[in-house]
Amino acid sequence: EIIDATNCIVSPSFVDIHVHFRDPGQTYKEDLYTGSLSAVAGGYTTVVCMPNTIPALDEPSLVRYIVEKGEEIGLCRVLPAAAITKGREGKKLTEMSLLKEAGAVYFTDDGAPVMDAHVMRKAMEFAGSIGSFVADHCEDLNLSQDGVAHEGEISAALGLPPLPPEAEDTMVARDCVLSLHTGMPVHICHVSTKVAVEVITWAKAMGAPVTAEVTPHHLYLTDEEWLDFDCKAKVSPPLREHEDIEALRWALASGIIDFVATDHAPHAHQEKMLEHQHCPPGMIGLQFSLPIILELVRKDYFDIFRAIEVLSTKPAERIGIDPPQIKEGVKAELTVFDPTESWEVTEEVIKSKSKNTPLIGRKLIGKVKYTFYNGKIVFKD
Ligand code: NCD
Ligand code: ZN
Ligand code: ZN
Ligand code: ZN
Repeated sequence: EIIDATNCIVSPSFVDIHVHFRDPGQTYKEDLYTGSLSAVAGGYTTVVCMPNTIPALDEPSLVRYIVEKGEEIGLCRVLPAAAITKGREGKKLTEMSLLKEAGAVYFTDDGAPVMDAHVMRKAMEFAGSIGSFVADHCEDLNLSQDGVAHEGEISAALGLPPLPPEAEDTMVARDCVLSLHTGMPVHICHVSTKVAVEVITWAKAMGAPVTAEVTPHHLYLTDEEWLDFDCKAKVSPPLREHEDIEALRWALASGIIDFVATDHAPHAHQEKMLEHQHCPPGMIGLQFSLPIILELVRKDYFDIFRAIEVLSTKPAERIGIDPPQIKEGVKAELTVFDPTESWEVTEEVIKSKSKNTPLIGRKLIGKVKYTFYNGKIVFKD
């Protein structure tokens, strides 16, 4: 087959260490097959599935289920992150060594931010001692309470229960301090505030082994999305303000934020139609990260090489897998994309089972044309 790559960039394929594929337990939202389809359509060939499934990924057999089913589907590399605590209840640590042996690439209680400092410290020490790490959702529920939207002009104008940024900032600070004192790694999930960026800057300067990710939506959208999209704009952490976005973009450029992760969080249409308090937070993301990152290249925050680093090689390094290669003798694992082709986000082009994103109807620039995995074409535009 002849591949037309006129005007295209050939890149190592992308790696997303934070996706929710809802399998087992909520496969009406997404499953490992539709999740894999949406990954390769976004140029990704490695994804790490979050453990907030039903039941939670807190046992080796469940971790193995993800690995095996992902391999059976064969579109991309599907790796599990296991729960830090049994049932993601924030109390009893899981058997991390066994979970790691079964295939867990790291540990997180993402989506259930209920771990107190003592449990987090123990988890950090144990995961670190076996050459792994913990990742924290970083939200203090005492501060976020029943908030649904970033505390600011928009939440006030719409009468939405406010979620103050310090609910995130204080947890990021806590985890950074714990990492500094234990010398053990922690990964900060979906950083969304300017103060969190400052705290991470401080922790890295002190020598704490902290890494951080940012989502495409936090780099691109503000809480003003609530005006048009209502609960489709509800996500955790919430969409913030222009100043936060600006800080996140420069932090990604400088390396204070290490890479991009989508936090792809599918939810069914009827769930997103519920009232604010009951609507689950989250938006899908796998097909939008490339165009959003390319937008930042066009706006001169960083160059195309940094773009590929944050989408591919840096996240690969974090989970200890070989970076996707474009090399003789190695089975092709690459993404061919046209950085100038524009396209409209419609329900039809979304491969995910769920269509929950405020990007519907928007024009994006930058399109994945082919994705190769294991030497084969797994996606073709
Ligand atoms: C995630 C989900 O739906 O599982 N939701 C979200 O808004 N990000 C959970 C999470 O990442 O905390
Ligand atoms: Zn989270
Ligand atoms: Zn409403
Ligand atoms: Zn998540």
